[in-house]
Amino acid sequence: MDAYRCIVTKRDTRAYLDKPIEEEKLQKILLAGRMAGSSKDTQPTRMVVLRDPQRKKEVAACGNYAEHLPSAAVGIAVCLPQTGGDFDAGRSAQNMMLAAWSMGIASCPCSMHDQECATKTLGLPEGYRVVVVLALAYPDPAVSMHLDKKRLGLEELAHEERWRG
Ligand SMILES: Cc1cc2nc3c(=O)[nH]c(=O)nc-3n(C[C@H](O)[C@H](O)[C@H](O)COP(=O)(O)O)c2cc1C
Repeated sequence: MDAYRCIVTKRDTRAYLDKPIEEEKLQKILLAGRMAGSSKDTQPTRMVVLRDPQRKKEVAACGNYAEHLPSAAVGIAVCLPQTGGDFDAGRSAQNMMLAAWSMGIASCPCSMHDQECATKTLGLPEGYRVVVVLALAYPDPAVSMHLDKKRLGLEELAHEERWRG
């Protein structure tokens, strides 16, 4: 799959197969996250990899809409220190999700609404927070990925030279 097709067909998917992610593929996903550029090259983003079913359940309980995390083969908590910018973490997260999708592995972010719960459960050092936890797994082919889903039109999203309207 070429890069553009990978980007435009990536959907946030919550229905998964009960199939492990190969270790080599997981390493490639993490390396893709590592290669994201960051503000002033500070490389602030850290990841916590979750494979244990009980751990995934405990972390899912820190979010309001994370029911899909326990059924995913792997969770990756994307973490930042207080000084880290969300854009840096976002670039790493999207790199990982796109690298995964290029290998046929679906994903969906989970917000951690209870930060205290998430940071405690993940054992983060003082001052760190969880930006998002990525659920990663092979998608269940029986469930539609809504590849035909529409986004807002470019006429609404993009302006030429100056914001108009
Ligand atoms: C920062 C962020 C947090 C998100 N948190 C959740 C979440 O807690 N639970 C969930 O099911 N989806 C979550 N999502 C996924 C969004 O619901 C999804 O991106 C949106 O519905 C578009 O989905 P699509 O790409 O499949 O069209 C999150 C997405 C982002 C970017």
